[in-house]
Amino acid sequence: MTTDGFAEIDPRRFRNVLGQFCTGITVITTLDSEGGPVGFACQSFAALSLEPPMVLFCPTKQSRTWAAIEAAGRFCVNVLAEEQREVCARFGSREPDKFAEIGWRTSDLKLPLLDDALATIQCTVASVVDGGDHYIVIGRVAALSESTDSGRPLLFYRGQYTAIEPDKTTPAPWRADLEHFLTTTTQDTWL
Ligand SMILES: Cc1cc2nc3c(=O)[nH]c(=O)nc-3n(C[C@H](O)[C@H](O)[C@H](O)COP(=O)(O)O)c2cc1C
Repeated sequence: MTTDGFAEIDPRRFRNVLGQFCTGITVITTLDSEGGPVGFACQSFAALSLEPPMVLFCPTKQSRTWAAIEAAGRFCVNVLAEEQREVCARFGSREPDKFAEIGWRTSDLKLPLLDDALATIQCTVASVVDGGDHYIVIGRVAALSESTDSGRPLLFYRGQYTAIEPDKTTPAPWRADLEHFLTTTTQDTWL
């Protein structure tokens, strides 16, 4: 038992069980106080709200990128493509110049956009919530873009990179139940 009455959860088991939840991978970027690009690999990203448009991500409290995002008040979510494993490894490291061999450009909103990302979501920081050893950062979406190629996303599952089957970029047959789910915007429907 923990001092506040909860069952002890073994960290390894926590990671293994949570690893059953497959996610995409993003690199979240901003410009630091000297105008240099900074960023980190982040799987804890999610869509949050359609009206108004909001997303969230969860940086560890130790993240140097988070410190720069907090100071700048804005960030860009770059959704990685299957071919960007090396990009992910670099941004998941703590090396000082992660952008050294990476193609990128500065957007009109003064945010770094990575070349070949499947999508970019530029945001201002709307609020920050305490989440144990992480923060939950909620962003108001300011601009969106997506790749015109039919690229596939890089995935993270059970502690490893993976990818979807090649045929999954073909649009799925129309299904009335899903179409309703994706287009309904009543207040009690999530996306
Ligand atoms: C696939 C992958 C997913 C990650 N997801 C997160 C995450 O959701 N939140 C987080 O704080 N760190 C995450 N990390 C770890 C950070 O990218 C890593 O700690 C990085 O060194 C932080 O860099 P910074 O201190 O320059 O911000 C992830 C790393 C990898 C490789």
